[in-house]
Amino acid sequence: MKSTLALAAMFTASAHAAATSGKFTALSFNVAGLPELLQGNEVNGSKTENSGLIGTYFAKYGYDLIHLQEVSPAAGEGVWFVVDQDANRGVLDKDFNYHAYIYATDNHQYRTPTSGGAAIGSGLNSLSNYSWLNFLRTKWNKCSSASGSDCLTPKGFTFMRWNPSEGVYIDVYNFHADAGTEPDDEQARNSNLQQVADYIDTWSVGNAVLVMGDTNSRYTRQDDTGIRVFKSQNNLQDAWIVNAKGGVYPTAGADALLCVNPSTTETCETVDKVLYRGSSLVSLSSTSFLYAGEQFPNTNPEYLGQIISDHNPVLVDFSWTTSSDFRQSPFSGGPHGNWFNDLPKLPASPVASVLKFSGADRLDSVSIQLADGTTFSHGGTGGTAKSLTLGKGERWISTKLCTGQKDGRTRNFYIKATTSDGRTLEVGTATDSCTSFVADSGYGVVGFMGQDGDEIDQLALIYARYA
Ligand SMILES: *[C@@H]1O[C@H](CO)[C@@H](O)[C@H](O)[C@H]1NC(C)=O
Ligand SMILES: *[C@@H]1O[C@H](CO)[C@@H](O)[C@H](O)[C@H]1NC(C)=O
Repeated sequence: MKSTLALAAMFTASAHAAATSGKFTALSFNVAGLPELLQGNEVNGSKTENSGLIGTYFAKYGYDLIHLQEVSPAAGEGVWFVVDQDANRGVLDKDFNYHAYIYATDNHQYRTPTSGGAAIGSGLNSLSNYSWLNFLRTKWNKCSSASGSDCLTPKGFTFMRWNPSEGVYIDVYNFHADAGTEPDDEQARNSNLQQVADYIDTWSVGNAVLVMGDTNSRYTRQDDTGIRVFKSQNNLQDAWIVNAKGGVYPTAGADALLCVNPSTTETCETVDKVLYRGSSLVSLSSTSFLYAGEQFPNTNPEYLGQIISDHNPVLVDFSWTTSSDFRQSPFSGGPHGNWFNDLPKLPASPVASVLKFSGADRLDSVSIQLADGTTFSHGGTGGTAKSLTLGKGERWISTKLCTGQKDGRTRNFYIKATTSDGRTLEVGTATDSCTSFVADSGYGVVGFMGQDGDEIDQLALIYARYA
């Protein structure tokens, strides 16, 4: 079993070259699915029926990534369970009593498990054609019920490391910020946006980022200062500014051009936003921006052609290209511990010089020293250390990693590095759950990314192209 898996993985990694560019469509949609109690209905038709229709449209249009806010609480009542705690992926429970109306008619392969009904759920869900790692829900530190009922539902944000192609990861955030324009609301909302910006600074260091959600903010609204931190603090671009506003941000306090629903123009501003950045591994650009309300007409004869949500959905086309200087491997291990990424600290033309690993029962630490003296070390201080000094022109080209469970959580238990000269360095204890990653031809390992504590919970390898 062990060797079959490893062989299969090695075969996969070396038998074909991973795609170096691609495209995807991303939709952010506040679907107005909260109960009447929390949200008056400006939209005709039943929420149940409208939700079912939204799912039907998702299946029809086949967007690659969909972020929803205000998903019906009915979706959460015993419908989904988590099969893999580490992957945090849900599968449909066939025995559900309540219909998950959107999920029932949609057919995307990957969908987040719902977080529970209103007053226990956040209403945030994602649907996608591609899988992800490390899905996590986080609650806001602050809420305000000055207007709206933001404190009745535990709103917040979700994070996932989305994987649209082999070796391509984008940290994707979905959220619904505090509503209202009373001073308390503004304070809570700006705090919410700051919370996401700070989270990105910690958990997305070195990574491409895509933020899609209901910000409840407009650049033109004087007190909505929080929405601007994504540019100033995280260096994110706004797909609306790029594609509909010629790169020019509206002035705070300027007259607002508000969107009707469905909107027939893209120059008006709404609170639903899509922001993004690339990384030195993958560049990301938005190629079009559309208020897509007209793609979602009501089909009920009584309300034919009317809107089915009080928000315009926002649809953005993206394209990505991998760098020819750097590549990365897939991840091995579980989403525990703190995020680290050596990518931003790599010198120009890095060359690996000394590898040092420590391990015993499990993998305690990994370290790599580059020719210019830069050293990256991750993990704790335990285990027995072993090192390997690379010869001139020798590269670390292949890596076997094995995982296992410690206290019910997945970690790396074993690593074996193989060089272009066939020399190896291994520590830890092999398990029957192993994967081998092979560098593309002309590339070698020069650093790491992943999550650590006193051991190596999760690990991916950073490859650089050798001159
Ligand atoms: C609801 O239906 C009524 C009657 O057809 C119509 O006048 C009204 O505009 C509809 N509201 C919306 C939001 O579509
Ligand atoms: C994405 O998923 C949808 C829904 O399953 C499907 O219709 C569409 O063809 C898929 N797109 C791609 C590029 O695989």
